[in-house]
Amino acid sequence: MIVAGVILVILVASVLFHLFTPWWMTPIAADWSTIDHTLRLTFWVTGAAFVAVIAFLGWCVYRYRHSETRRAHYEPESGKLETYLGIATTIGVVFLLAPGLVVWNSYIHPPADAAEVEIVGQQWNWFYRLPAEGGKLGRADARFVTAENPLGVNPYDPNSKGNLIVNGGDLHLRVNKPVKILLRSIDVIHNFYIPEFRAKMDMLPGSESFFWVTPTRTGTFEILCAAYCGTGHPFMRGTLVVESDADYEKWIAQQQKFTAMNEQKRGFAALPATGQEK
Ligand code: CUA
Repeated sequence: MIVAGVILVILVASVLFHLFTPWWMTPIAADWSTIDHTLRLTFWVTGAAFVAVIAFLGWCVYRYRHSETRRAHYEPESGKLETYLGIATTIGVVFLLAPGLVVWNSYIHPPADAAEVEIVGQQWNWFYRLPAEGGKLGRADARFVTAENPLGVNPYDPNSKGNLIVNGGDLHLRVNKPVKILLRSIDVIHNFYIPEFRAKMDMLPGSESFFWVTPTRTGTFEILCAAYCGTGHPFMRGTLVVESDADYEKWIAQQQKFTAMNEQKRGFAALPATGQEK
């Protein structure tokens, strides 16, 4: 009796805690409300299964409690019950998985007018690369990675010219402008995550992944690495600033261009080499 009562209390408390918890989703700062709907649907389906299973457990403990006069009834198979449970489970799993397929499909199909920004992860920093005004991002390859070119930008690709490289600074994005976020890693698996965007994705060495998002309000948001990537993982953080077009243009004007950066560094690196030749 006591155990059945405890199970009932746990059940009611769990449901109430979930409904009144202060740790619910943070206010969203991007257009992925469909991800929120999918999360809520998942909570409803798994919540219904939780309530059904725990309530059934409590009822069994109460109904079939020990009694001297009662003998257990042996029934190892029930075709009918298995059919019902199979159908119910299938319906539940379909509701859990099907919406995700639809959301995922739109998550990886950016609109044609989306801007591009590349995020590169390296233990334990974030680098960003943006195309020049009206331009595209040049290709990149691990073969081109040097101290002067940490992102491995292909210097022979004409599109690389004028690419803006942000090394160690904040990432800025325009408000209400869709942006395709291209993700690369130089070393191990990282995961680019902005909690308020409700958007994240793995960054895999040797391949490029991407998703798109439209920031819907200005502000400063934290970028986190959401895949364990070594001892510095907890410190792999960055700052994203979502701002108006005017502020964004000001920021863009201050960023270093790929070619300019390379030439400057090459000139600097050439000094000791010249000394050796003499
Ligand atoms: Cu990068 Cu964890």
